[in-house]
Amino acid sequence: MILEYVSGYRIVRELASGYLARVYAGADPAGHEVTIKTLAARWEGDQDKARVLAEEGQMLRGLEHRGLRRCIEVVENPPALILEYVDGASLHGHLLLLKQREVSFEPVLALGVIAQIVDTLAYLHGQGILHLDIIPNNVLISQAGQVILIDFDNASWPGRLSALERGPYKAVPHYTPPELWTREPYSDRTDSYQIGVMLYQMLAGEPPVVVGDDADVGGGEPPMIMFRSLGKSGAARKVMGIIRELTHPIPENRRTCDDALAAMLLSLRGDFQS
Ligand SMILES: Nc1ncnc2c1ncn2[C@@H]1O[C@H](COP(=O)(O)OP(=O)(O)OP(=O)(O)O)[C@@H](O)[C@H]1O
Ligand SMILES: [Mg+2]
Repeated sequence: MILEYVSGYRIVRELASGYLARVYAGADPAGHEVTIKTLAARWEGDQDKARVLAEEGQMLRGLEHRGLRRCIEVVENPPALILEYVDGASLHGHLLLLKQREVSFEPVLALGVIAQIVDTLAYLHGQGILHLDIIPNNVLISQAGQVILIDFDNASWPGRLSALERGPYKAVPHYTPPELWTREPYSDRTDSYQIGVMLYQMLAGEPPVVVGDDADVGGGEPPMIMFRSLGKSGAARKVMGIIRELTHPIPENRRTCDDALAAMLLSLRGDFQS
């Protein structure tokens, strides 16, 4: 079925289509741009998936932070969310472009992106919300440089279990910390791990290498994740040291992301002085 309208919002063009969702750019009756997140065709009539989508929208309706986009409406039929539109590109898109040009992120820019996500996470964690899927596809950067965290499909909050407990879990192996592989308790440190991997990917230009069987989350031994050096300079070594602390395999030994960010900025202060 080809959708033209969802609850009075006009579909303009497709933005993305993945496992759970098909996302469109759309317009409200006054012509303002919105984002319309619908279920992928394979989930038509699936009540569980419709509920997961609606939960994301209802949860977002209770939040207010510059690093998040508001949910304007939760539509029941067809199941859809009307979200504020982000005029920009995903971090994934930026990384692809830089890779094509064979350059990586400017360290100051990478830290700026991370600082904004850490600020958003502090807000979310303060409300008991764990994102659990901080990957470059789920980070949008607006034209104005605002970093927006999207996609709460996997997230958990009081009264809602994460995707991990709801059924088959499709993981991005190098963004999946050991506690998710072995189905041990996750926490705010799980989000910290993903921040560490994301910072590494921005600075190294590619994600860490996954060694071993990456077939099945919950299927036993986590694969080994290998980081290469970010360079020999003092600054590169300091940042790599902190990335290692963020991605420590044992969650209790991991730095929290706000603590890691503060440590990085402090340790780099000398490197910014001329
Ligand atoms: N508010 C928004 N503004 C602009 N683009 C958006 C917005 N929300 C989502 N998108 C686009 O749609 C893509 C998919 O959105 P989202 O991550 O929420 O869906 P998803 O649940 O991951 O879907 P799937 O599981 O099918 O991959 C994003 O990577 C982004 O390109
Ligand atoms: Mg996504």
